[in-house]
Amino acid sequence: MRRLRIHGGNPLRGKVRVPGDKSIGHRALIFGALAEGVSRIQGLPRSRDLLATRNALGSLGVKIVEEGPERICIHGVGLDGLRMPERPIECENSGTTMRLLAGVLCGQRFGTRLVGDSSLSRRPMGFLVSALRARGAHIGGTRWPVPKGSHADPDELYPPISIAPLVEGERLAPLEFHSPNMSAQLKSAVLLSALYADGPTVVYETLLSRDHTERMMLALGMPLQTTGTISLFDPTSWARCWEGFDWQIPGDLSSAAFLLVAGAVVPGSEIEIENVGTNPTRTGLLEVMRWCGVRLQVAPRGEGAGHEPWAEVRVRSGVQSPFRVGAELALRMIDEVPIACVLALAASGRSEIRDVQALRFKESDRIENTAAFLRAMGAQVVVLEDGLIVEGKSKLHGTRIDPQGDHRIAMAAVVAALMAEGETVVENAECIEVSYPNFVETLQSLGANIEIEEEKS
Ligand code: S3P
Repeated sequence: MRRLRIHGGNPLRGKVRVPGDKSIGHRALIFGALAEGVSRIQGLPRSRDLLATRNALGSLGVKIVEEGPERICIHGVGLDGLRMPERPIECENSGTTMRLLAGVLCGQRFGTRLVGDSSLSRRPMGFLVSALRARGAHIGGTRWPVPKGSHADPDELYPPISIAPLVEGERLAPLEFHSPNMSAQLKSAVLLSALYADGPTVVYETLLSRDHTERMMLALGMPLQTTGTISLFDPTSWARCWEGFDWQIPGDLSSAAFLLVAGAVVPGSEIEIENVGTNPTRTGLLEVMRWCGVRLQVAPRGEGAGHEPWAEVRVRSGVQSPFRVGAELALRMIDEVPIACVLALAASGRSEIRDVQALRFKESDRIENTAAFLRAMGAQVVVLEDGLIVEGKSKLHGTRIDPQGDHRIAMAAVVAALMAEGETVVENAECIEVSYPNFVETLQSLGANIEIEEEKS
């Protein structure tokens, strides 16, 4: 068990790097595993979620070798080279691992089971199961009793997911898929299953969710066309293979977000982050910060893995206006909502975030848990079915916070604690390793006063 003792007050100053992007990392690992030949990936973070995908691919017969700090080499086995794992695949806390791999595994001639930890076992899989079944996959989920007061649908399907093999001569069917919920994980699972189909796949979204999968497929020369919110994959004259690649993963904007907001809300701060991924489907928080009057400089530096833009980003402290977020903007900052609420605390008025009901089904119910820790620190927050209203200029005081096993709640609480009077204790902070193992050390290097206490559990 890890406990953090945080005292606010110190300005944060310096230049840092953030770990590679988690979403891009999962996809790079999967496309590397299915390539013909060797791929090298630089900048893959050592987060627990990515280790889950790495281990899963290892159990499917893919050799992945560490070549240096954050540099790995994947010996791709080709589209038809995966082999049956000896045990169920452990996806731990990672929804992306489970959903993306389901897309690949439903096209195999062997059966598999995908299992997760207690948090992942409560995350909905019904849309995924229906989408893949609609193209002939033999896939099923599990029905759990719904706890009282939960937002879950009693007819929903959850992990474990079971996938039976395609039989001799059977292929997945073409599919026209209208995505019901703008989930990039769902869209990506459908696009990955398209690699095993004997006809075209069309995916329609109503708003464009993060498009890392599409960018990589295009970069690898696959027969994909994207037009706005529609993707068309037509394998008619495709050789069903691609070569290994050498990619650098840009830094994770969803991790950088905690440092950027810390830089904005802690007086006297100035932080520069060298390697921030700036894919436009992810940059909602940067726009919100600008509206709030935060002094933010974004200097584009190039492209990484599969046409992913990245930039050097500098932030200086000072937050003015409150903000309103909904619809497309909300989707482009879906993982940044807890930390955007911390930004809202520093603004001069009431901020409102709507259209984020998906947050109720993340690693925890992030709407309730964000409100819970902010209120415990003295903030005024209203919980809505689909979002939150946060009163700005609240005076925060230190308290004891349990992030409920959710890495993004834990990191948002640490940043809020840097604005609070007195000591804040964040219990069970080891969950931060799910996405950003060096988060606390990075804040310490910038000058934050945080003590780490380890306890044997
Ligand atoms: C992700 C997509 C989003 C995001 C998650 C990572 C991805 O989830 O919240 O952290 O890598 O595709 P949904 O697809 O469920 O919206």
